Amino acid sequence: MKPQTTLVHAGDRQKLGQYTPVSTPIYASSSFFYDTMEELADVFADRLPGKTYARMGNPSASALEDQVATLEGADLAYATASGMAAVHLAIMAGLLDRRQAIVAGNVLYGGSLELLRSVLRPWGVEVRFCDFCDIDALQAAVREVRPGLLITETISNPCLRVADFERVKEVATANDALLLVDNTFTPLLARPLELGADMVIHSATKYLGGHGDVLAGVVAAPEKYGESLRQAHRCLGGNLGPFEAFLVMRGVKTLPLRMRRHCVNAHMVFEGLTGHPAVERLIYPADPSHPDSDAVAKLLPPGLAGGTIGVDVRGGQEGAYAFLDRLRLVKTSASLGDLTTLALHPASATHRMLSAEARAELGITDGLVRLAIGAEHIDDILADLRQALEAA
Ligand SMILES: Cc1ncc(COP(=O)(O)O)c(C=O)c1O
Repeated sequence: MKPQTTLVHAGDRQKLGQYTPVSTPIYASSSFFYDTMEELADVFADRLPGKTYARMGNPSASALEDQVATLEGADLAYATASGMAAVHLAIMAGLLDRRQAIVAGNVLYGGSLELLRSVLRPWGVEVRFCDFCDIDALQAAVREVRPGLLITETISNPCLRVADFERVKEVATANDALLLVDNTFTPLLARPLELGADMVIHSATKYLGGHGDVLAGVVAAPEKYGESLRQAHRCLGGNLGPFEAFLVMRGVKTLPLRMRRHCVNAHMVFEGLTGHPAVERLIYPADPSHPDSDAVAKLLPPGLAGGTIGVDVRGGQEGAYAFLDRLRLVKTSASLGDLTTLALHPASATHRMLSAEARAELGITDGLVRLAIGAEHIDDILADLRQALEAA
């Protein structure tokens, strides 16, 4: 054979010998073949387990999906190219055979709000936003809209509100609506499926990946939603690539170590900044005076209230910008869940598309900074925050 042929084939497709790799390799292959046509046909027809074409399933992504299903106590999971693709997938699968109407939390991640408002609504899905911490308001909205599904977050972004899940679930069940929960802020701390959620969503870009080097998402669910998720996942095509799956899977292995550190550091930042003269208000779910402290106690383990803190800096936007510009160790950046402590000004970033009045109604003041506390030493984090607050 000529080099044009041999170089395309040499070295590839070696069967594994009597060894098994300790961690899942990056399966960079868009399709898979079998020894016989009969086997391939059986795999295509689901009579045999296996892979055919990477959009229908890639071994690296499948390994991550098994891992996240274990994390969430789910029967199955589907990995997606971003958290937004996961939000989209869950909604599409959830609404497949249901009334095309949604009641959504009014303080969801900005991208999720935009998806509901600017994409799904124009497509004809009825969308109503509502404060899930106000159960009477939620009940009224659900009675009126008769939604196919409700969607909310365990800890809302950026005001860190926590709804009473038991009661939210009661409302969903009484009205035959699915409950979709975005657990991006609290993996391992909260297990929404155990509390009655129908599907759990993650932006794996955050704590699951954990190192700020990958964009990914996952939806986890019980078996009864397997077929609709599978159908929507393979048709929408927002699959996760094998390299990204490898990175997220590696991240999830250290999630318990990292999550504890994020939470403990966040708690110490809360204590360290309490009473600081440049801070008008601190928002932290484990603050005993947090408006949802009963719901927090039911949802999260004691003292482990996630890694995010809201700091309302005195002086409005000017004070917040001065503080952010003086940070050295802490980086002003739009993500969270990284080893690096990150700071964000929601009014200029994730929630800039809301009117000033809408932001004020949600408690997103011009001075509010969201801190996503990293895994550095607490002394260094606090020193940087304190020196930057001098400027505010
Ligand atoms: C709670 C939440 N859900 C979903 C997303 C979207 O995730 P991604 O940026 O990975 O698409 C984010 C992103 O910040 C988020 O914070």
